[in-house]
Amino acid sequence: MIKYEQVEIKYGNFVAIENLNLEVREGEFFTFLGPSGCGKTTSLRALVGFLTPSKGKIIVGGDDVTNLPVEKRNIGMVFQSYALFPTMSVYENIAFGLKVKKLPKAEINQKVRAVAAKIQINDEQLRKNVSELSGGQQQRVALARAIVLEPKILCLDEPLSNLDAKLRIELRRELKRLQKDLGITTLYVTHDQEEALTLSDRIAVFNNGFIEQVGTPHEIYNHSSSEFVCDFIGDINRLETGILKKINEQEQAGLDIHKTGFVRIERCIDTEKPGYVSIEGVVIDKEFDGVMTKYTVKCGDEIIKYLEKNDGFQFYDEGDEISVFINPKDIMQF
Ligand SMILES: Nc1ncnc2c1ncn2[C@@H]1O[C@H](COP(=O)(O)OP(=O)(O)O)[C@@H](O)[C@H]1O
Ligand SMILES: [Mg+2]
Repeated sequence: MIKYEQVEIKYGNFVAIENLNLEVREGEFFTFLGPSGCGKTTSLRALVGFLTPSKGKIIVGGDDVTNLPVEKRNIGMVFQSYALFPTMSVYENIAFGLKVKKLPKAEINQKVRAVAAKIQINDEQLRKNVSELSGGQQQRVALARAIVLEPKILCLDEPLSNLDAKLRIELRRELKRLQKDLGITTLYVTHDQEEALTLSDRIAVFNNGFIEQVGTPHEIYNHSSSEFVCDFIGDINRLETGILKKINEQEQAGLDIHKTGFVRIERCIDTEKPGYVSIEGVVIDKEFDGVMTKYTVKCGDEIIKYLEKNDGFQFYDEGDEISVFINPKDIMQF
């Protein structure tokens, strides 16, 4: 449905995006994920029409929209900084785009109320001034203002970044539900890997203006295609020659000892299991967050971290000598 074809985007002489090629399917929840400054917003703004590529094409539903003005693209946009009209009421904010389109008053009223209901904004809140609302509610209004126009595509640029952790998770769920309900093709920008994993049908991992990998959350996490992706998307242990040698000796795993091996920390365990290799070490740190304990274990001159679910019992201390078990099949090398 959306296609970037050999897209280059520049700011003056600076090439922010060199050669972007990407396809997003109809109805998909698609996320641009990557660290700050890697080109997510730039890529999104070119689709919305705020930026014009210096090379290449952007195709939407078969039409070349590369040079089409923003207002002709029928794309809804929500920003991190809600960008609401601060002196207007919630109702007026949501109705704004419909008024610009000169829709009859009754129709505006019906549409605003329908969207408000979907997004859990009640009548009392509709009458309020937006400045009286909390951040989470303001972001709901921003979302309502975008979807009331029934856009073909919804673009969200870090919409939850200004909210506190609990609210972020709550709104994330609502957003996912709403997107499923509406079936609207959604492009979502975030630097938060957990957000990307929980929300997306597919993710494009950006690094420095380029896409490193496109895939489902499962593919990106379990079959990372590069060290960058592997490292960015989760917590990993880096295994070097010493440990890799040990693993090869015990299990004939055939690992390349001249390359770093990567293993997710939650794949490492402290109880023996068939096929796993034991590595002895000393606990040097533990972080308990209620659900899990993250242990840091010094094994020779290498460090292995692992997670243990809180069962109310077992609790190692700093200085304890333990064994960490790793399944060679879980080790990624690039
Ligand atoms: N208005 C601008 N003028 C010049 N450079 C910009 C501008 N906006 C972004 N950039 C640069 O383009 C690159 C990509 O930025 P951006 O798309 O905002 O990244 P992200 O959204 O992934 O954090 C960065 O190097 C950034 O400094
Ligand atoms: Mg950005």
